[in-house]
Amino acid sequence: MVFSAEEIADRVRAMGREITEAYGPADDLLVLGLLKGSFIFLADLVRQIQLPLHVDFLVAGSYGNGTQSSGNVRLLYDPEANLKGRAVIVVEDIIDSGTTLARVLPLLEARGARSLEVCALLHKRLVVMEKEARWVGFDAPPEFLVGYGLDYSESFRHLPYIGSL
Ligand code: IMP
Ligand code: MG
Repeated sequence: MVFSAEEIADRVRAMGREITEAYGPADDLLVLGLLKGSFIFLADLVRQIQLPLHVDFLVAGSYGNGTQSSGNVRLLYDPEANLKGRAVIVVEDIIDSGTTLARVLPLLEARGARSLEVCALLHKRLVVMEKEARWVGFDAPPEFLVGYGLDYSESFRHLPYIGSL
């Protein structure tokens, strides 16, 4: 086990507090989850944010069914939500090569959000992002991790903890 359910819950609670303090009720917060990997993290995170907010999702596929990034990012679902003038937080499960965010953020930046920040549960710190995540749950070891939303070929997403494959 790499991160236990208890460790994750503690960290997510703290991140929710930090996000609550960083914004105000007038910010019209939009929490935009990158599917599918962020679904459990996002569900836990938004329940720790004590501000009015909306939730939407974005589907960007960069991985095939293996453990290596293909480098290709496809937008398979684009959010219905209007970003204009809003404070947007993109929620990612794990930053590995950073390719997904590097491709997705410029697309979102063109939509006139008031602010655009990234909240990632895990960061492997293999790359320095042009736009670094403002909130990171844990620095991750350079291993392939599964559980708490993260998959290997669609398996293991349901594990309540994060383990190494
Ligand atoms: P990146 O584009 O290389 O940063 O990878 C981003 C996506 O790849 C993440 O949102 C995950 O879905 C997937 N990914 C990267 N590393 C891992 C891992 O260790 N376990 C499971 N999925 C991963
Ligand atoms: Mg994945």
